Amino acid sequence: MKLLVLPGDGIGPEIVDQTLRVVNWFTENAGLTIEIDYGLAGGASIDDCGVPLSDEVFAKAKASDAVLFGAVGGPKWDALPRASRPEMGILRLRKGLDLYANLRPAISFSALLGASALRPEIVRDLDILIVRESTAGVYFGEPRGIVTSADGARAATDTQAYHENEIRRVCEVAFELARARNSRVCSVDKANVMETGALWRAVTTEFGNQNPDIELSHMYADNCAMQLVRAPKQFDVIVTDNLFGDILSDQAAALTGSLGLLPSATIAHGAAGQNFGVYEPIHGSAPDIAGKGIANPIATILSFAMCLRISLDASREAALLEEAVRLALSGGIRTPDIAAPGEKTVSSAGMTDAILSRLNDLSLKR
Ligand code: NAD
Ligand code: IPM
Ligand code: MN
Repeated sequence: MKLLVLPGDGIGPEIVDQTLRVVNWFTENAGLTIEIDYGLAGGASIDDCGVPLSDEVFAKAKASDAVLFGAVGGPKWDALPRASRPEMGILRLRKGLDLYANLRPAISFSALLGASALRPEIVRDLDILIVRESTAGVYFGEPRGIVTSADGARAATDTQAYHENEIRRVCEVAFELARARNSRVCSVDKANVMETGALWRAVTTEFGNQNPDIELSHMYADNCAMQLVRAPKQFDVIVTDNLFGDILSDQAAALTGSLGLLPSATIAHGAAGQNFGVYEPIHGSAPDIAGKGIANPIATILSFAMCLRISLDASREAALLEEAVRLALSGGIRTPDIAAPGEKTVSSAGMTDAILSRLNDLSLKR
């Protein structure tokens, strides 16, 4: 398979380098053939050729079987207008490749219960999947822009827009994935305030009626934010729009202990059909810790596990990698973001060393 690697900015290249050590382990030890190519994205691409994702890199992504993406953005490019910011690099990939379902699993590791902001009993055995719509909504709606009137006052506009087909197709993915889990989907919207919310609720309700094997419930987004902290285990699959999904998934990350743990896959259809995906951690370029070599590589390594499962159809290898991560954590290996006060910590490379050593142990046992 052809894997295009886009490291990006800040900690992006650091965590991607660590993940590539894991990719290499699988090509050397698990008989997988992965042909790797590289490209620039985000600020790194702006510095090189003036745009956050060039046509050339876009074409390479399109010709690949999967993309491993680090993170983009940083203070150096924060003053740029929206359309030319680093963040447009990832948005162009999602939109341009029509990758409308962004899967963001939040699973708690028993070894990390102490790292969660919540009490252990609230998060023990947490296993939720947020399915975030990723090609529409307020991220892409038109009109948008900022205008300055004659008196010098500025006014900005964004448009939240959804077509019913965009809602239905992300529902399809959420329902399909729920079937392999606990068959429950909670759809999150603001149907009480927004026109798009009312349409979201109508379409999900119709879809639920046509698929009675799945238990569908609805929740307002503000309540969902509260319920995620109060009793997160009530959820199985959450399906929601682009912006709510962005916010709620960072919140779900805090339940598991760190933003540095949560992987994602952005796909066009669930397990069946098209296998292309963009795999990336849900976190950003973390300028506050960039260059220090201490970023947690687990979110990106687990994103590669999602790539193994979805794009390579290598679910045994994916499970092996997830088990190696779990064992490294239960062996007490901690990057600073998941360490208790005073606990010994390792670098990004140290965490990857520990995961690779567990992979070696596990493969000997097989
Ligand atoms: P962020 O996710 O980069 O960081 C938030 C906090 O989490 C920081 O304290 C950071 O140190 C910590 N953190 C994140 N990843 C970590 C990891 N792997 N290990 C340890 N700690 C980690 O969010 P931000 O600070 O709001 O944004 C920084 C930049 O990243 C912005 O330019 C933003 O637009 C961009 N961003 C990009 C993506 C992406 O590329 N997909 C996602 C989110 C934010
Ligand atoms: C994410 C990020 C992106 C988003 C930004 C960088 C465009 O926050 O992947 O969660 O908002 O989707
Ligand atoms: Mn985000």
